[in-house]
Amino acid sequence: MRLTVIGTGYVGTVHAACMADLGHQVLGIDVDEDRIASLSAGRPPVHENGLGELLARNTASGRLRFTTSLAAGAAFADVHFVCVGTPQRPDGGAADLRHVDAVVEGLLPHLRAGALIVGKSTVPVGTAARLGRRVDEASPGCEVAWNPEFLREGSAVHDTLRPERLVVGSDSRRADAILREVYQPMLRAGVPYFRTDPATAELVKVAANSFLATKISFINAMSEVCEAAGADVSLLARAIGADSRIGSLFLEPGLGFGGSCFPKDIRAFAARAEEIGAAEAVLFLHEVDRINTRQRRRTVDRARRLLGGSFTGRRVGVLGAAFKPGSDDVRDSPALTVASAIHAEGAAVRVHDPEALDNARAARPGLTYAPDVPKACEGADLVLHLTSWPDYRRLNPRHLASVVRHPLLLDARNALDTAAWRAGGWTVHALGRTGTE
Ligand code: NAD
Ligand code: UGA
Repeated sequence: MRLTVIGTGYVGTVHAACMADLGHQVLGIDVDEDRIASLSAGRPPVHENGLGELLARNTASGRLRFTTSLAAGAAFADVHFVCVGTPQRPDGGAADLRHVDAVVEGLLPHLRAGALIVGKSTVPVGTAARLGRRVDEASPGCEVAWNPEFLREGSAVHDTLRPERLVVGSDSRRADAILREVYQPMLRAGVPYFRTDPATAELVKVAANSFLATKISFINAMSEVCEAAGADVSLLARAIGADSRIGSLFLEPGLGFGGSCFPKDIRAFAARAEEIGAAEAVLFLHEVDRINTRQRRRTVDRARRLLGGSFTGRRVGVLGAAFKPGSDDVRDSPALTVASAIHAEGAAVRVHDPEALDNARAARPGLTYAPDVPKACEGADLVLHLTSWPDYRRLNPRHLASVVRHPLLLDARNALDTAAWRAGGWTVHALGRTGTE
């Protein structure tokens, strides 16, 4: 089949490369000329496991090409996946739909008869119906369906090729049949396919993200209680997670969630619920958000206490800048929020990250960055573990103890082997656990 993928960011680049790998002819489209130039040369714009190989293979075969022209895209294919950003509006929590709207308006004058626009961006419920009316009025016979994306950064290629489910929101049997054909190799492999109405599909996406964010904030609320009670949140998480009804995933206590999705999605969901008269039903999302933000503040407060009440004149080594391991994305990164707050209070902060240093430098130019962990920690009075990259679990604590001024560690992700660090000469503190280990 011939497809376009419009918006070649995290979602779009991976979707385009994976669809080409399934055998489709794909044209990726973006307004960003530099991005299109580097994609055309087979260079991925983001760090994602396996994406480089996939791009190289499919651009070389000619199945995957890129352009900045929506008109060329409309002429090329009958199926158009929309993967542009839906950021939080600057004036509040609601989603900014200007990019989605611009793509639809840009396509409309050029669409081939019977073309299908498939939204993958995360949008407020009601968006697909509104766009469907607009398309119907301007280009009768063309249709809109919603096919939300559930990939995680860091495992985006795997999640796209082997998703746990596909959700397609459409009132049209024709649109449903087209999307079943697009995804046929996955359906044959047994991937569950849920066809819903458009509103349900839009809600599945934000409900799933809200549930996951709630699970993280729940365990982080428990971490606060554990600290007050002198209990251990890591043990608590393991013990409650052993109940299969609760499950152990997404129960890692620590600095909380960041990134371009959970924070803005729960806010946009709350804002949309208010617009449609269901504000009370999702009041808990405000609390989920507050708990999450509080974890960043609590980390800064704990670090300050560990340094005797002030950061002034102190050196802090920071492990991690990305919002999660496996990604170079620093959008709303809890690690960078904490590093910046500590820097603003007078500490000399040096940040390390295995993949996200360029993005971190661009986002927070005021901080100092180090190319390796020993340089980040040289002369440090305190080391903060803020993003749980596997690399940090492989560090040699004894060796690192020899480069710092004080071997004092705050593990804000509860992910390091505290016994090994203690044996290496460190005093170890962790969120959700009182005292030292
Ligand atoms: P992104 O910011 O990485 O990429 C968006 C791309 O769209 C950019 O390259 C931008 O230049 C391009 N763009 C903007 N306006 C355009 C236009 N008019 N025409 C063509 N291109 C245009 O965004 P992302 O992280 O890939 O997210 C995209 C959407 O998918 C969002 O709604 C997000 O909530 C959702 N989503 C993201 C993830 C994720 O892990 N990042 C996962 C699931 C869903
Ligand atoms: C998340 C969802 O997992 C995806 O299904 C969804 O498609 C995506 O949002 C989206 O809509 O954009 P992502 O943000 O890439 O994916 O990464 P996650 O692995 O979900 O982690 C999100 C944040 O939660 C990270 O900051 C991570 O460190 C944090 N987290 C995760 C915790 O603090 N504790 C946990 O137990 C798990």
